[in-house]
Amino acid sequence: MRSKLVAGNWKMHGRREMVAGLLSALTSRLPQGVDVAVCVPSPYLDQAADVLAGSGLLLGAQDVSECDDGAYTGEVSAGMLRELGCHYVIVGHSERRLRHGESSQRVAEKAAAALRSGLVPIVCVGETLAERQADRTEAVVAEQLAPVLALGAAQVERLVIAYEPVWAIGTGVSATVEEAAQVHAAIRAALAGVSPAAADGVRVLYGGSVKPETAAALFAQKDIDGGLVGGAALDAEAFLAICNAAVAV
Ligand code: PGA
Repeated sequence: MRSKLVAGNWKMHGRREMVAGLLSALTSRLPQGVDVAVCVPSPYLDQAADVLAGSGLLLGAQDVSECDDGAYTGEVSAGMLRELGCHYVIVGHSERRLRHGESSQRVAEKAAAALRSGLVPIVCVGETLAERQADRTEAVVAEQLAPVLALGAAQVERLVIAYEPVWAIGTGVSATVEEAAQVHAAIRAALAGVSPAAADGVRVLYGGSVKPETAAALFAQKDIDGGLVGGAALDAEAFLAICNAAVAV
């Protein structure tokens, strides 16, 4: 039985005071019965780790280098993130694929680097509006997943996947429950091609305008194991309501 996971993706938001305030609001009312994580901007990971110590709220980063330590100006290694107390790291978010030209191959290398250092990668996949309109959603998701699944069963069994349709991110327009469930089922089938343990154990999150009002119906789907939450993760009430929705199902 897979436990639900709700991960907040703060993106490039926050200052010291906001980090302290939001994290203490979350830790003081963190529900039991769901795994909860916050992926904060790199400069605040150390501060966040201090606030979160012993709270049960897990820390994540938003990107990682595919390289181990070395001459890579501006990059952050998985070993560094691990030392800072990270448990998760998002890889292949569409904002990085689009703005930084990250290929699916590179995303798979980032996932592998994260796993080498004991981090759990949250691998994001999802189609653009044009791809959906061209009826290419499942093909695009399969292409994006292929190099990740090629890492092999032992690696795949340890990661988390997030289905995030690009057209739903930050737009206020979530995929419908049916649209999301269909892609999640396709991802589950792809995982079954890797190993039975991957099909049973890998959590597949939905992301894209998840809100307190929409979370429960999404999380009730058998192949939707929680959410990757952007905008609503910056508001303690909204994020806690989404976490509670995951407990309730
Ligand atoms: P959103 O972002 O919830 O603001 O749509 C989700 C994400 O980008 O991970």
